[in-house]
Amino acid sequence: MDRIIILGGKGGVGKSSISAATAVKVSELLPNKKILIISFDMAHNLSDLFEKPIGNKLTKLKSNLWGIEPDPDEYAEKYTKSLIDKMKTLMKQMPVVGFIPQIEDFIDTTFTPDSIPLALKNAMFFQKILDAEDLTQEIQFDIIVADFPPTGNMIALFEIPEDQVKVVLKYSLNFYNSIKGAVKNVSRVFRNLVNPLGDHKKREELGEEIVNMVEDLEKRGERITELIHRKGSLRLVTIPEKPSFEEIKRARDLTQKYVNLDGVHINLITPEKYSLGCEFCQNIRSNQLKYIKKIENEFERLRIWSSKKLLSEPVGLEGLKLLADEVYGKEIDVNTILYPK
Ligand SMILES: Nc1ncnc2c1ncn2[C@@H]1O[C@H](COP(=O)(O)OP(=O)(O)OP(=O)(O)O)[C@@H](O)[C@H]1O
Ligand SMILES: [Mg+2]
Repeated sequence: MDRIIILGGKGGVGKSSISAATAVKVSELLPNKKILIISFDMAHNLSDLFEKPIGNKLTKLKSNLWGIEPDPDEYAEKYTKSLIDKMKTLMKQMPVVGFIPQIEDFIDTTFTPDSIPLALKNAMFFQKILDAEDLTQEIQFDIIVADFPPTGNMIALFEIPEDQVKVVLKYSLNFYNSIKGAVKNVSRVFRNLVNPLGDHKKREELGEEIVNMVEDLEKRGERITELIHRKGSLRLVTIPEKPSFEEIKRARDLTQKYVNLDGVHINLITPEKYSLGCEFCQNIRSNQLKYIKKIENEFERLRIWSSKKLLSEPVGLEGLKLLADEVYGKEIDVNTILYPK
């Protein structure tokens, strides 16, 4: 894999549209490379943008472009099920649990991949990036374009691969404590009946397997963090207005420890010809110009791409090509898109 291009910014500014347009453009300029566009936003909308059902499977969009809208539940299941199953078995080995069938039921129905926290499930999305590097996979991708959710959720996504194991363990511990609380009183009654050691050897073996799995999860997390550091390139999308400008400044500060910020897109600029002859439109335009200046000053060391609001929504391959031309210009060199500065 050569590059992971990540688009972030406030809600509704055009992250998904620019991601899709970028993927289409790069796939056109590099016909011999394989490009993947992934949505990391739970509220997927790639299908709408490409006017084609995509969902949780690799879907061919053009000769060398594929898309996917991963289902976080599937990843949660794939990467945590066996760990959770082992922990469940270990909990059931707690001497007192064996005496209270209701607790066993409680463990079975509550402690499942379904019940893991949403943030962690989201982070499982990232496994898709690792899959893209995995030589055993059906397609080897060279460039990934990642459409991210608005800033808050984006930060949570960056944070989790590093802390994935901590989150799983904390969740398990909380769960363990809740059972312990529930059985505390009953356990006094049972104390004299129970052999405090239980089946010691079996517990030890299980413990070891769990440690191995946790280590494996940790390695995958580290690998994702390292990949994003090495090959990731963040571009923040904004519109020329205060709230979205403030948000990309915050996003820049909050993401700098995870990924390189390489560029800024100023999107949805009102075309000048529509600003004439109407006082309201002129006010909007002069406010936009003020913020364009501010954004350019604030991010002067980065590449800045400006794009006007198109007359119709940029959807479908043709619409996305039009948006790509608006964003990057018709004569863009692909290296400027991949390595802006
Ligand atoms: N340059 C443009 N010209 C015209 N319409 C645009 C342009 N950029 C984006 N849009 C439209 O603006 C709307 C929001 O765009 P998009 O869904 O890409 O934003 P987003 O930042 O991904 O939103 P969300 O935060 O909800 O994921 C869409 O209807 C899209 O078609
Ligand atoms: Mg979006």
